[in-house]
Amino acid sequence: MKKIGVLTSGGDSQGMNSAIRSVVRTGIANGFEMIGIKRGYKGLMEKDFMTLGTKDVGDILYRGGTFLQSARSEEFKTEEGQMKAVKNLKEDGIDYLVVIGGDGSYRGAAILNDLGIKTYGLPGTIDNDIPLTDYTIGFDTTLNVVTEAIGNLRDTMSSHERVSVIEVMGRDRGDIALHAGIASGVDAILIPELPYDIYEISEKLKNGFERGKTHSIVMVAEGVGKAEEIALLIKEHSGLDTRSTVLGHIQRGGTPSAFDRVFTSRMGHKVIKLIEKDIYGVALGMEKNEITYHSFEEIFHSENIVKDNLYEIFEDLV
Ligand code: ADP
Ligand code: F6P
Repeated sequence: MKKIGVLTSGGDSQGMNSAIRSVVRTGIANGFEMIGIKRGYKGLMEKDFMTLGTKDVGDILYRGGTFLQSARSEEFKTEEGQMKAVKNLKEDGIDYLVVIGGDGSYRGAAILNDLGIKTYGLPGTIDNDIPLTDYTIGFDTTLNVVTEAIGNLRDTMSSHERVSVIEVMGRDRGDIALHAGIASGVDAILIPELPYDIYEISEKLKNGFERGKTHSIVMVAEGVGKAEEIALLIKEHSGLDTRSTVLGHIQRGGTPSAFDRVFTSRMGHKVIKLIEKDIYGVALGMEKNEITYHSFEEIFHSENIVKDNLYEIFEDLV
């Protein structure tokens, strides 16, 4: 019986559990032995392995986080750490490895693949910052969490005639801010990919209040800067009352959306099909509603840009 290892690495995201469940159950259904590796590359180097049966992945489909847990490891970035990982996998006869994680985790996965472990990547990050996939695991759930939070802020901002400046995650990418901003009908969206003019934004907000608006919302991607500082600048330039909110790790939790559950179920199925065909060294994703795959190298060399013309769409909506 061939063995498949599965781990989650880097920042967790909602839907990772659903991805593990799909990989494990589809693997078992197709005659593989499934091994769970705890705490990402850390557990790989420490040989923290466990056999997973169908029941072991029961009751996790709708839970955020990852029951295998996740970690970041500096040691794994060294050749010594990587050799330890390969030795542990070979000793236990693990032929294939599925890595659920973000860009950094993909770098590690590509190295393991080059070292002779047939490796696969599933895009596990809320940031939506992986090329050659329209979505990453957890991104949709995060958008829903952020959209709900904005609704709450809107209520109180409206009562007090204030401007709410909301900082969201995304590392150096603006996808969360842009998508959640459009979904929430906000007044301005600041993302690292595009320049902005704080005077122009302040003027626009002031005009809005003069026309009778009772609140305004400004979305700030963390890659742009701190919401608190931007709120102060807007207050200075517009004279409006501002409040800043950093949504923080709230965005990374919660039950995965139906979309994330189906998306991950499809990728889990596909990865087992690729293993059966002995295609390896690839990362999966979704493009135009198809589950697709590309070599790690192709992903590393692809342009990482805002997908679609969403900012243009937004500009016509405000
Ligand atoms: P994410 O996968 O969410 O982008 P990180 O960038 O923190 O998160 O990467 C997760 C882990 O992947 C790191 O802690 C490290 O162990 C491993 N990793 C990251 N970059 C590299 C690299 N260039 N070479 C080898 N391993 C890496
Ligand atoms: O990559 C996911 C992410 O949540 C980013 O959006 C954020 O910048 C970072 O991870 C936060 O990392 P940590 O969990 O280490 O605080």
